[in-house]
Amino acid sequence: MTIQFNDETFRDDYTFRNSQWAIDRFPFPFHEDSYMYSVNMEQHQGGPAGSVFEKRFDVDEHYVSEMKDRALVLAEDPLRCQCLPHMTLAGWDLLELIMVSKSEDYPDLFELHREGNNWHWINKPLGIDHKFVFLDETTLPYGPMEYITRQSQGDFAVLDQRDDNLWMDAGMVTTQADWSLDFDIGMNFFEWHAPVPKANEMGIFVRALKFLLNIQQGTPARRLNWTMTVNPLLDTSPENYHKWGVQKTTLTPENIGTKQHLRVELQTFFRLPRSNALVFPIRCYLISLQDLVTVPKWGRRLHRVIRDLPVELATYKGFIDNRPMIVDYLSQFDDGLPTSDGI
Ligand code: HEM
Repeated sequence: MTIQFNDETFRDDYTFRNSQWAIDRFPFPFHEDSYMYSVNMEQHQGGPAGSVFEKRFDVDEHYVSEMKDRALVLAEDPLRCQCLPHMTLAGWDLLELIMVSKSEDYPDLFELHREGNNWHWINKPLGIDHKFVFLDETTLPYGPMEYITRQSQGDFAVLDQRDDNLWMDAGMVTTQADWSLDFDIGMNFFEWHAPVPKANEMGIFVRALKFLLNIQQGTPARRLNWTMTVNPLLDTSPENYHKWGVQKTTLTPENIGTKQHLRVELQTFFRLPRSNALVFPIRCYLISLQDLVTVPKWGRRLHRVIRDLPVELATYKGFIDNRPMIVDYLSQFDDGLPTSDGI
């Protein structure tokens, strides 16, 4: 296989590591020395070879371990995966999109053979070889959305489109930045975004929704979002806040380089063919500050972004208390040079 999959954990002993390859392709999200919310959407039609944007669904060295972590979360809390009854067809659409994309984009890892509705799916990294009948749920061990998203990195929100709005009527959410599918299920675009500061007043959500409602099949879009996470935790859910919230108090000037991570989400948007639903995959990439500052222009820029971020955003993103320590650490890597050379 072309990718060497890591054997690592995102909990307890935290053996998660990024190889040099993963550091080199990390989606550093800042295009200038400051940050504010914007409608930062672009077409998702590939990207530079080897980058996380190249394929429709990026697969990397963390794939197998991330899928093990998802299975652990689901075993403890089955409500992380929910699909309202009218969304089953969208689940089949998603299964088709992912199977077709992965088998075309990674033919050495995934194979899909189709004869009418008789499908044969081979997922080599996870050791799955399965024949089933497309659109017949009795031939899968789970519903179609759950089946395929147990084999796909990142979270998935599946949105029904009606009344000129999007409704969170299905999803697989085990690696989220502090929001809950169980809380948001059945909500619309404005309702689930209600906790976000400033963006609504800036008109961002009205414009973003307009864009999303018009996404057509075959022309997916993408954007990046980011936050900060102490320890390489995938599951920073409200449900488990009692486990990970307290870890934020364990940062010290000595351990911050290895413990504090920048968390970047590659968010993509695909129209689904039969259901007309919109799927919103949210792919999470973690990098320790220690690895991040090995790229001098990233260290320099992140220092300025975090230092100058409006208080409301640092509070919402959950690192306001640790901000002074993060800024102190990063300041060592900011030599004051301009970063206008682009990232
Ligand atoms: C945050 C879902 C599309 C902008 C969030 C949150 C959720 C969410 C669940 C967390 C809210 C909370 O604190 O409980 C979605 C879904 C989308 C979508 C399902 C697809 C339909 C977009 C788009 C934009 C956007 C297109 C803007 C262009 C934001 C911003 C935040 C946010 C700025 C705050 C993030 C932060 O500061 O870390 N979104 N979103 N979202 N969303 Fe969306």
